[in-house]
Amino acid sequence: MTTRHFLSTQDWSRADLDALLAQAAVFKRHKLGRELAGKSIALLFFNPSMRTRTSFELGAFQLGGHAIVLQPGKDAWPVEFEVGTMMDGEAEEHIAEVARVLSRYVDLIGVRAFPKFLDWQVDRQDRIVAAFARHATVPIINMETITHPCQELAHILALQEHFGSRDLRGKKYVLTWTYHPKPLNTAVANSALQIATRFGMDVTLLCPTPEYVLDERYMEFGRRNAAENGGSLRVSHNIGEAYRGAQAIYAKSWGALPYFGRWEEEKPVREKYRNFIVDEAKMALTDNGVFSHCLPLRRNIKATDAVMDSAACIAIDEAENRLHVQKAVMAALVAQPEAGNGQ
Ligand code: CP
Repeated sequence: MTTRHFLSTQDWSRADLDALLAQAAVFKRHKLGRELAGKSIALLFFNPSMRTRTSFELGAFQLGGHAIVLQPGKDAWPVEFEVGTMMDGEAEEHIAEVARVLSRYVDLIGVRAFPKFLDWQVDRQDRIVAAFARHATVPIINMETITHPCQELAHILALQEHFGSRDLRGKKYVLTWTYHPKPLNTAVANSALQIATRFGMDVTLLCPTPEYVLDERYMEFGRRNAAENGGSLRVSHNIGEAYRGAQAIYAKSWGALPYFGRWEEEKPVREKYRNFIVDEAKMALTDNGVFSHCLPLRRNIKATDAVMDSAACIAIDEAENRLHVQKAVMAALVAQPEAGNGQ
């Protein structure tokens, strides 16, 4: 049998995801466990983090395990990912060695590797985490690359808690683009689209223009998930129409894919749509809607103080849930019979 990774929720069945969420709810009630006793996880951050690093380190500790944080290029050697290349640049070692050596030490490897933002056709291949999965002999966890599956689970758990039901089918869900001064990763938007449709919600992707529609891979996942789970997916460029009657608003900013690598050209387009900020007037159009965001969030740019401080905002609950869902993911991955570091 091959090692099972946690790279995308699309690789896991609904029953598997439901089991992870159920286990996360148990961990939320009972913080400490022994599921990772004697086990360890290497957390490789190619990009900054606050929530992901804290919740993974703490989650491993609370289950009796140990986490080692590495930042390649900062406190660990820079890594080469190209195959067959002459390594005469900055990188001091190749992923073929890094992944195999770490696999001899630890039982799990978490990887955060954002796109390089130069060429989407390259970035959409998700080469770094794919290379870890190819070369490692232990399970790999995606800690955000071009999707953010741990955030997806935390988001769904927060919605289930808010609505008081595991069944989210038919909920009117809006994923809204928001302005941000810099172009950001599409990862959380891709993830929101695929997990909201996976749980059968009626999903609207609200964005300023067709240029901000997400990559066709995730649009297709969304359409297929909706068809299989009784929900729907549509795109809207009309703020009022999208918010009216919505039960959940999830906000994220992202750079428009057609401008990838030409961000100076995208900037004036983006600047025109500062009005996509989530504010009280928009939330008043919803059906007593709940608001969330993956965080970090620039207040009064993406959402107003009033929205962030309102009872409708469950972003802090969602952030807390990162801890619980990741404990469930780590416990599930080390429990698989074929998992192990070969020692
Ligand atoms: N949401 C999230 O992943 O937060 P960090 O970037 O702080 O880890």
